[in-house]
Amino acid sequence: MNPSVTSSLTLDHRRLDESLAALKRCAAAGDAAGALARLAELRRGFDRHIRIEEEWLFPGFVRAGEPTAAAPVAVMCAEHRLMEELLTSLAGLLAGNDADARMRTLADLTAHLLAHDGKEERILYPMIERAASGSAELQALAPRIEAELAADRDPQSGSPAASG
Ligand SMILES: [Fe+2]
Repeated sequence: MNPSVTSSLTLDHRRLDESLAALKRCAAAGDAAGALARLAELRRGFDRHIRIEEEWLFPGFVRAGEPTAAAPVAVMCAEHRLMEELLTSLAGLLAGNDADARMRTLADLTAHLLAHDGKEERILYPMIERAASGSAELQALAPRIEAELAADRDPQSGSPAASG
């Protein structure tokens, strides 16, 4: 069966979870250089993920008839902006000496990411899958999203390739 929008983006969420976990392990061990490298990897993956959502998926969903009363797209985009701010402030905190602020911001980011991804996986993506039944645009996006995300995924495990 062809990968769905839900399966491709959910797998990418797990990949971002792994990057964040690796970042937290480095931060907890006091490995600032390792933490900064993991943060750069997380930021690249995060930016790509929200670009796919905000430039491809969400506009297609809006054109296919997003239920505007609940404004799920606006809520998700606002949460993306909040997490971008946390990621940006982390870059400074990982290089600095305020361990409390660093661990607090990492905990904040973890909580926001978990809640956000849960909403997308349980509510928004299924809503988009239902809208796709009447939208050629959304149907055409599923293989395009999978191709964008699969390029550097390890074919054995579905996890990020060692080089990527
Ligand atoms: Fe999102």
